[in-house]
Amino acid sequence: MSRTIIIAGNWKMNASKSISKQLVDAIITGTSGIDKKVIICVPFPYLAMLEDSVNSVVSFGAQNLNSNQNGAFTGEVSGSMIADFGVKYVIVGHSERRSLYGETNEIVAKKTQSALNSGLTPIFCIGEELSDRESGNTNNILHAQLQATLNVIGIKNFAKIIIAYEPVWAIGTGVTATPVQAQQTHQYIRSVIAELDENIANNLSILYGGSMNPKNASDLLACNDIDGGLIGGASLKADDFLTICKT
Ligand code: PGA
Repeated sequence: MSRTIIIAGNWKMNASKSISKQLVDAIITGTSGIDKKVIICVPFPYLAMLEDSVNSVVSFGAQNLNSNQNGAFTGEVSGSMIADFGVKYVIVGHSERRSLYGETNEIVAKKTQSALNSGLTPIFCIGEELSDRESGNTNNILHAQLQATLNVIGIKNFAKIIIAYEPVWAIGTGVTATPVQAQQTHQYIRSVIAELDENIANNLSILYGGSMNPKNASDLLACNDIDGGLIGGASLKADDFLTICKT
């Protein structure tokens, strides 16, 4: 088993040209020599500017892509355009894309395939709403999200992706899944993949996302099936993000 521990930041639609530069400089300096992979997912315009900052620890990612490679899709950006800037990662299926922009499981699956076609590593987000958790439906929702993408990319390609489990009720709310809740859910996700390919499941990095911060990171990251974090709010503060990276 050789799971990579990954700390990924998701800046969402935040920062500016100068803030991006300062934040990235601080993260590069502060993560030198650490034994984790750090991925910073920034708004599209900053990707080109940050291309030269990549090093053996820190990589950059986009937060979305269109599932087509080119064409008449005004305002959209394709995977090959993202890859053109030396970018290696892209978030797909974030709950904000699903809820605000109508991305269905099927659209997310197509985007995941398109990212792979462009040579990008998708950070494939799944997660349940509060009502799903309260009604005991969490595993069904996660299974459907996984299955839709399995149907399109196939189990073998799960060796090339990262999964982020992000309970929707924990994103940006300050409410975090308890380590027990998160571990149980990560274990379930891994078991769905293990039914199809145990080796791929054992090597799959499954990140937790949802109000991870310097205080709760160590308990979450200590869980067997939690292989890192996808961090929103706390990734915009260099000190907080670095504390999590060093946890
Ligand atoms: P949060 O966001 O850490 O601010 O909850 C996580 C995410 O949306 O990826």
